[in-house]
Amino acid sequence: MTPIEETIINKKTNINPIWIMRQAGRYLPEFREIRKKNPDFIKLCLNENLSTKITLQPLKRFDLDAAIIFSDILMVPYGLNQHVEFKKNFGPLLGEFSLEKVLNLNDFDFTKKIDSIYKLIKLVSSHKLTNNKSTIGFIGAPWTLLVYIINKQSPKLKLVDNFFESEVLLKKILNVLDKFLKIHIKNQVDSGAEIIQIFDSWAGLINSKDLNEYIYNPTLSLVEYTKSLNVPVICFPREIKDYKKYCEIVKPDAICIDYNVDPNFIQKNIKLPIQGGMDPKILLTSKEHLKKEAKKYLDIFKDHPYIFNLGHGVLPETDPQMMDYLVKMVKDY
Ligand code: CP3
Repeated sequence: MTPIEETIINKKTNINPIWIMRQAGRYLPEFREIRKKNPDFIKLCLNENLSTKITLQPLKRFDLDAAIIFSDILMVPYGLNQHVEFKKNFGPLLGEFSLEKVLNLNDFDFTKKIDSIYKLIKLVSSHKLTNNKSTIGFIGAPWTLLVYIINKQSPKLKLVDNFFESEVLLKKILNVLDKFLKIHIKNQVDSGAEIIQIFDSWAGLINSKDLNEYIYNPTLSLVEYTKSLNVPVICFPREIKDYKKYCEIVKPDAICIDYNVDPNFIQKNIKLPIQGGMDPKILLTSKEHLKKEAKKYLDIFKDHPYIFNLGHGVLPETDPQMMDYLVKMVKDY
């Protein structure tokens, strides 16, 4: 078993495995170099040789315990034939979503359209750099994908005013997502993904009264499905107001926390293995401060199954030397 599996499945508390969200990305000069030559982000994700190379870049530099595949949660709307592009200094921009077309889409055509992702997973999981490390596949949670599908761009602080206008349509899209996200999970697992993380980046935007319908029920369905494949599932409902209730209802194998939640509260109130928490901005300060803050999380979760990670993705302006320092410090703890 890999250190992350030992922590999640066997509830080991003395290992302190570490991986970092967005560990393959813009803070690495070797990533930026490839990116410069490949302006089309979707095409880059679908080039299995380049995306494998990018996935492995951080593992060449740092002693991380996982490879998270270089892909994006928006590859699913793309697979559902919605136009998706990434604009410089703007973020994702999506086209009109056609429910009609999607209802006529079969499993085979969806899989074929994003098949390079599965080839990438095969290449990564069989690579010698991932020996005794976990290959992590992922999906966007139905709610967060719904947000992008309807909003067509990042919601930042607010959803478009008429977001909930057609509840019937939203339900139908959630149904479609349930079907194709399961296919995407299964394909990833069949290709060699050993853990699935569910990113619900916009969980914090929803009102309590809508949690059942848009977050708890749809996520539970995917968590149960992933468990049925005998693969551990980590959920990251970023900025959800009540992590404890989320865990009680959704029951992931591990929960990833953001940096606005009090780790002491989490440690006392949640019995599941915990991942993440530290503010990525800490990596922009000094080594002394980084050590103090990382140690805070390691101390709090000393007797708790804990996977070190950040409370959101590593920032592009991060100095790779700070990452190096962090990984070594966690390993030496
Ligand atoms: O290293 C890893 O974590 C694996 C790769 C990964 C990417 N996106 C690559 C990426 C993962 C796990 C994601 C997930 C993702 N994508 C999420 C959930 C996590 C989160 O950040 O909340 C979301 C919401 C998206 C959608 C998305 N993709 C946005 C909003 C953006 C633009 C903002 C940004 O950071 O540039 C992307 C683009 C993206 N996805 C980049 C990377 C490395 C940057 C692309 C570039 O080089 O310009």
